[in-house]
Amino acid sequence: MKMIVLGGSPKGEISVTMQYVHYLEIQYPEIIFQKRFPAHDIRRLEENEEAFEQLIEDIRRADAILWAFPLYILCVCSQYLRFVELVEERGVVEAFAGKPAASLSTSIHFFDHIAHDYIKAVCEDWKMNFIAMHSPAMDDLTKAEGRQALEHFFSFFLHLAGQKHPACQQFPSIPPQKPRYHSVSTPVSIHSVEACNITVIADSTEGSLGNMIERFASCFSGGVEIVDLNRIKMLSGCMGCLHCGPKNMCRYDKADEVRRIYEEKIHPADVLVIAGTIRGRWVSSLLKAFIDRGFFHTHQPFLTGKQVALFLDGSLTSNPVLHSGLSDYIACQGGSLIDTICDETEDCSFIDGCIDTLAEKIDTAQEYSYRKSQTFPAIAGMNLFRDEVYMHLRMVFHGDHRFYHRNKIYKTLPHKRPLALLGYRLIGGITSLPPVQRKMVRNMKTFMLTPYKPVLASAAREARRGQKENGPEATDERCTKRKGP
Ligand SMILES: Cc1cc2nc3c(=O)[nH]c(=O)nc-3n(C[C@H](O)[C@H](O)[C@H](O)COP(=O)(O)O)c2cc1C
Repeated sequence: MKMIVLGGSPKGEISVTMQYVHYLEIQYPEIIFQKRFPAHDIRRLEENEEAFEQLIEDIRRADAILWAFPLYILCVCSQYLRFVELVEERGVVEAFAGKPAASLSTSIHFFDHIAHDYIKAVCEDWKMNFIAMHSPAMDDLTKAEGRQALEHFFSFFLHLAGQKHPACQQFPSIPPQKPRYHSVSTPVSIHSVEACNITVIADSTEGSLGNMIERFASCFSGGVEIVDLNRIKMLSGCMGCLHCGPKNMCRYDKADEVRRIYEEKIHPADVLVIAGTIRGRWVSSLLKAFIDRGFFHTHQPFLTGKQVALFLDGSLTSNPVLHSGLSDYIACQGGSLIDTICDETEDCSFIDGCIDTLAEKIDTAQEYSYRKSQTFPAIAGMNLFRDEVYMHLRMVFHGDHRFYHRNKIYKTLPHKRPLALLGYRLIGGITSLPPVQRKMVRNMKTFMLTPYKPVLASAAREARRGQKENGPEATDERCTKRKGP
């Protein structure tokens, strides 16, 4: 069997993921592995049509396809995305049709499910027969059980690749045509009293997306800073060199404008709008390259306290993976995603209304200091980073280690709270005694409310005191302090 391996690391052969492929080569000598490196060779594939055609021809002749890639910011790297775009742009999707496929990634398991779903969705779009995924942690190959799991995955894949099974579809198809948005009404006018810096980062300022940005910008009398990624100097996507590990310096810092845009336009902003064009199953590789290059922040959130909105040009309802990827990314960076607005409906006045509402929400959230609560992705994601940086990542990411110390992130590790731990152990001991347990179970509902009673009693006392001193109007004012134009 001829198995083509599509390497998804910008580092080409010198990649952690490829070590897993080498292991498979050793274990399965009967398989002819043809390794290709579209992420590493992306420039050549873009510029040299013959090289691209040769790769597609190799794919056509292969019996099966193994997508082998590292996780890059909740998905695959921008160079791999660009390869997927090229296949669609150049109309050679048919070379993949009917081929059995599997995905193999390496990562620290930070949203690895999203990258695998992305690849699966691409396989479905290209009428491939997606069979299996395997997502080891970076060092699993060094462990016996990790090697065994890899072999189980590959044997499973090979077994089913030899059979003809209809492929099930998990993701909704992308509609072929999409309506174009243009503004059809007068935008709201926000004269915010609060100083508010608003930055839009866009992979296009033309067409539908450009019209959405224009309407949004016209809502704010204070102006909006728009960065069109087509007009900035960005030499490359992230190359995965980890130059950023020790001190958060990127090797391209002086050579192009990416760092400057982050530092001068995004860091000082109160509100960030990410405006992207959906291409297939993700946003454009241009926007993804800019996001990947933000990795100079390594594992330190850089959107903390900011309001964020997403403008998307394309089909969002058929792309649930993309939406959770982007919103989880924003949440993990500490951002508060206010709204996602997509131009997939034909009803332009509806989109006008959504943009106006977004502008109002931004202004109101600024005024009331409202930010969305952190939920599972941000909390679990940060705990994963904390544990990884505390353990092996600190070997490379010294900047993160210092940041986590300084910001007391390590203080949330259970063993760093010995008194609390001791208290819970004691209480755990007491509540495990059968008579105490019986009593607790009988009164569980009221028992669970014990910690809140003093809080509510004290709030009630304070409210009574406040009303006595300021009168009953004081509380009403809290939700009616809107400012006029
Ligand atoms: C820019 C960048 C972004 C990354 N993003 C993620 C991520 O979102 N989730 C994750 O689990 N690992 C992430 N990683 C870790 C890599 O996926 C991991 O180190 C992988 O093994 C590298 O494989 P490679 O050597 O084949 O490129 C990232 C690494 C880099 C350099």
